[in-house]
Amino acid sequence: MEYANLLVSFSEGIATVTINRPKSLNALNPATMRELSAVFEDIASRKDVGVVLLTGAGEKAFVAGADISEMRKFTTLEAFEFGLFGQGVLERIERLPQPVIGVVNGYALGGGCELAMACDILIAADTAKFGQPEVGLGIIPGYGGTQRLPRLVGRNLAKELVLIGEMITAQRAYEIGLVNRVVPLAGLMDAAREMAAKILSKGPIAVRTAKMAMNRGLDLDLSNACALEANVFAVGFSTDDRVEGMTAFLEKRKPVFTGK
Ligand code: CAA
Repeated sequence: MEYANLLVSFSEGIATVTINRPKSLNALNPATMRELSAVFEDIASRKDVGVVLLTGAGEKAFVAGADISEMRKFTTLEAFEFGLFGQGVLERIERLPQPVIGVVNGYALGGGCELAMACDILIAADTAKFGQPEVGLGIIPGYGGTQRLPRLVGRNLAKELVLIGEMITAQRAYEIGLVNRVVPLAGLMDAAREMAAKILSKGPIAVRTAKMAMNRGLDLDLSNACALEANVFAVGFSTDDRVEGMTAFLEKRKPVFTGK
């Protein structure tokens, strides 16, 4: 498939999706959101993809937010549709069967910070900056920022970020638990591929179902979430992968998983 605003490549079990509008710091316009929706729909059904890396083109920005020049013209209804559609795209990323590593190579602001929060794991360049600056535009975050941010970093830190609207450094994002790892910009993609390779070496069904159990369980009370886990845990015992994983352990060799 050809995309006007994305670069998409597949190699050794890794899909790399790069938002490619560097002249506007990879801002998310409706066309880019439609393409993101399509590419993630495609990836969801691909058995040859075990991990996705999501990043932005260039060295300055991951995504500097929704495209303000296009949003400026929105009617109320268009804003509602843009918000709902974007939330759906982020939910598709969050619920993707495969893990998504957000590779934050620069500014992750507004919709960019929200897109990052829909990923499973975030690796950021030491030069990256995060923030929800929407109140400075006279609007509120529209891609789930008022909801995912408090769930990720806690209510008061989220309120500070959303109500004051200032940017924070990658190091601060790490300290508050928004980001998993901070690395020098030059080593960012290598660090992401290294992490992806570690995930790819594990049982693929286990990885997918563990992601699903964590995401779905977060929406439940602990008791029901643990019941969900017990079911997913038991289903794992029906797979060839668990036979191989346990046999390889006992035979003191590396497992060869088939994803069956
Ligand atoms: N939308 C459209 N264009 C954008 C943009 C955005 N979100 N962010 C940057 N650009 C454009 C700039 O207009 C500029 O274009 P021109 O060269 O044609 O003038 C180009 O990208 C480079 O940007 P700057 O000259 O501003 O670069 P800078 O280094 O001085 O500043 C920045 C970088 C701090 C990221 C600044 O660009 C900025 O503040 N951007 C806007 C961030 C923002 O407010 N994001 C939230 C958007 S609202 C939202 O996302 C709603 C939601 O929740 C879905």
